[in-house]
Amino acid sequence: MRLNNKVAIITGAANGIGYAAAERFIEEGASVFIADFDDKAGNLAAQQLGENAVFIQVDVASRESVKQLVTAVIEQAGRIDILVNNAGITRDAMLTKMTEDQFQQVLDVNLTGVFHCTQEVIPYMVAAGEGKIINTSSVSGVYGNVGQTNYAATKAAIVGMTKTWAKELGRKGINVNAVAPGFTETDMVKKMPENILAQMRSIVPLQRLGTPRDIANAYLFLASEEASYVHGHTLHVDGAIMM
Ligand code: CAA
Ligand code: NAI
Repeated sequence: MRLNNKVAIITGAANGIGYAAAERFIEEGASVFIADFDDKAGNLAAQQLGENAVFIQVDVASRESVKQLVTAVIEQAGRIDILVNNAGITRDAMLTKMTEDQFQQVLDVNLTGVFHCTQEVIPYMVAAGEGKIINTSSVSGVYGNVGQTNYAATKAAIVGMTKTWAKELGRKGINVNAVAPGFTETDMVKKMPENILAQMRSIVPLQRLGTPRDIANAYLFLASEEASYVHGHTLHVDGAIMM
């Protein structure tokens, strides 16, 4: 049991990769707070995952909502050992067609949301003298991707924030790392035109998309003591799509 008695917040855990991570963390002994905007899927996820899963509705883009989340977790669990900043959205459009709204919405969730969650959780980790922060980047942020000006910008920013927080928080006993998934079988990729997705799949040397559990296993490694000397790193879990 690699996460025995650990308390984790996983944002965006009602669906997709976050749900798989909640399931994986619970298998390894953790209690997980599913922090998600999606009320219906969040309640269902908590029901499916059993007594070690609690759903709390949150909009990570809202500072007030994140404050309420963290207060509720501290009231219920007394501490926060692990934060996985997994919630994310896409609003894809070519640069020439992208609206101000599409640009801003993605920044609000994928970038400002990560800032909010980490800033609100950090005081508790600093007081405890330990903690694990795991951020979610993307193959799009590392290599760029057609139609994703907004999204790629946020996912590249995650790499920079991860390194900065590793420098600021390492001496407080807090590990900070990121995972950069490749194209992974979730609702997010289901929105892509099938021909483009097929093209992406065909250039992966492993000749398949990632599964949510592939990514969840990377989160698990970074959340475990086995990764205690891995710091400021972005782990690519993408089947070597761009190698
Ligand atoms: N590579 C090369 N060219 C591409 C391309 C690609 N990946 N995607 C689109 N194009 C080309 C098209 O072939 C087309 O070329 P022509 O003008 O010569 O015909 C041109 O770009 C415009 O494309 P569309 O006709 O599709 O333009 P559109 O305005 O109708 O739609 C779009 C644009 C919304 C970006 C649409 O192409 C799309 O959804 N593409 C997929 C974007 C994508 O990969 N998103 C990833 C989602 S999953 C995710 O985000 C997870 C993660 O972290 C990876
Ligand atoms: P998904 O769409 O299946 O799940 C995302 C979850 O985030 C949903 O449950 C949604 O309700 C939640 N969410 C959205 N906005 C929110 C908000 N404002 N506050 C709280 N929760 C919110 O997506 P998926 O694929 O599971 O993505 C998880 C993470 O992995 C995202 O950060 C995504 O950018 C990243 N990623 C995904 C890849 C893929 O191919 N699926 C590839 C690379 C990165």
